[in-house]
Amino acid sequence: MSRIVVVSGGGTGIGLAVAEAFVRDGDQVVLVGRRADVLEEAVARLGSGSALAVPADLTDETEAAGVRDLVAERFGRVDVLVNNAGGNVALGAGEPSLTELWTGNFRSNVLTAVLLTEALRDLLADGGRVLLLSSIAAVRGGGSGSYGAAKAALHPYAYDLAADLGARGITVNVIAPGFIDDTEFFGGRMTRERRAFLVGQTLTGRVGVPEDVASLAHWLASPGAAHITAQIHQVNGGAERGR
Ligand SMILES: NC(=O)c1ccc[n+]([C@@H]2O[C@H](COP(=O)([O-])OP(=O)(O)OC[C@H]3O[C@@H](n4cnc5c(N)ncnc54)[C@H](OP(=O)(O)O)[C@@H]3O)[C@@H](O)[C@H]2O)c1
Repeated sequence: MSRIVVVSGGGTGIGLAVAEAFVRDGDQVVLVGRRADVLEEAVARLGSGSALAVPADLTDETEAAGVRDLVAERFGRVDVLVNNAGGNVALGAGEPSLTELWTGNFRSNVLTAVLLTEALRDLLADGGRVLLLSSIAAVRGGGSGSYGAAKAALHPYAYDLAADLGARGITVNVIAPGFIDDTEFFGGRMTRERRAFLVGQTLTGRVGVPEDVASLAHWLASPGAAHITAQIHQVNGGAERGR
């Protein structure tokens, strides 16, 4: 039976690669993001029979509830929820104030995941999967502190959710990637020097790509990973050790 897989931020980068991995299995993916045109492009790439675009700003509780209503009406359940939407306000345009930096990163990385998960919670099927995208910054810092702090907040949320849902065979896991290329994450702010530095910190000597994260997400959603829950899984080519 094909699974119903909701991927926030599924129109670009890691989220799109995750969606592709599930579509290859014949699953139905629901892509959530703010930009309708970006989502529609992704649907065209994945196939309109396999993917559905649902534009929503997940920092808004009403919009998250709208996603829930649509998914409930169309599919009636969620088998896999991938909370991938997020970003680092420090990498956006302009110079945010301290307050904008910290509240912005909290909203973008914590609220998006919590509001969507809580909205979809009663639709989660027994034996389902919840994944949350954290970052290497949550386990070792790096940058302004606010982005890593926001990602780290997802960890105890995942532990509590795993405790609540475990009896129903639902697992909850966190994926913490290191530097992943070919996404919109860094905007125009990645320099050649910074890129070389980040690659130099890996033990594998290469950049991470969205498929590195997607293959872990895909496996964590498989029956073979049924006894793995409340864990932080790092995908960084050993970069946490490499500095
Ligand atoms: N690339 C890396 O090196 C790296 C490393 C560690 C962790 N991560 C994490 O991995 C996840 C995916 O990032 P990525 O690298 O693939 O970057 P990306 O291409 O910028 O993807 C982020 C996605 O999240 C969506 N999004 C952001 N805010 C949203 C909101 N309020 N509501 C709904 N959707 C929202 C964006 O679409 P819209 O703008 O259209 O809303 C976009 O599709 C993020 O959580 C990021 O923090 C990335």
